[in-house]
Amino acid sequence: MPRIVVGNWKMHKTAAQTAAFLDVFLPQVTALPPAIEVVLAPPFTAIPEAARRLHGTRVRLGAQTMHWELEGAFTGEISAPMLLELGVTHVILGHSERRALFNETDHAVNLKVHTALEQGLTPIIALGETLAERKAGTTDDRVVAQSHAALKGVSGDALRRVIIAYEPIWAIGTGENCDPGEADRVMGTIRASRTELADTPILYGGSMTPSNVGAYAERPNVNGGLVGGASLDPEGFARLIANAVRS
Ligand code: 13P
Repeated sequence: MPRIVVGNWKMHKTAAQTAAFLDVFLPQVTALPPAIEVVLAPPFTAIPEAARRLHGTRVRLGAQTMHWELEGAFTGEISAPMLLELGVTHVILGHSERRALFNETDHAVNLKVHTALEQGLTPIIALGETLAERKAGTTDDRVVAQSHAALKGVSGDALRRVIIAYEPIWAIGTGENCDPGEADRVMGTIRASRTELADTPILYGGSMTPSNVGAYAERPNVNGGLVGGASLDPEGFARLIANAVRS
């Protein structure tokens, strides 16, 4: 299974800043080995600029969310056909910031996963426990429930096109990354919760850096990373990718 590294820029970088990032980043990732896939998920407004620059490279283009309907009266929303037209191949769904700050429910995530798969986008389904859930010992129940809910009604070939990202909420943007062995254990629990997830790529996210990525990449249930802050600096992100390949 290839390693997958996804950069989630969240609400960072204008189109001009994206161009400046790629001027430095792309020359450093020209010789990616086939065993690694890299996806960049800039804000919507920077996607056209990123698409132009990524054309002909091995770096794929992702979006950070989308609506489940294909069109309609949904002010401010973006649909799968709009993303596909720009060359987007991946879409992050159910990020904890979307869930906590924009009321995205398990049901909405499930609708989006179905639409993404029907439209030919690869969903990157984000899930993870809060600090309170971890302290209460309900981490495993929480992530398995989120995974089941997101994948309700998805089976067969479609299920093989899904990527899952385990992002403990307390580790996001805090510098307190989850211990790699513990992340691997939780990710193994997610994998074991449904037989068809045996070969599903599961990524770790939460304060991943160029220096700690290797400790995750060598774990059996970790197939890559969903990277926030450390994906914003072109040299640092290229180094993180190189270290993910090396280990
Ligand atoms: P950080 O890497 O900044 O902790 O963010 C992780 C994340 O939320 C990626 O989606």
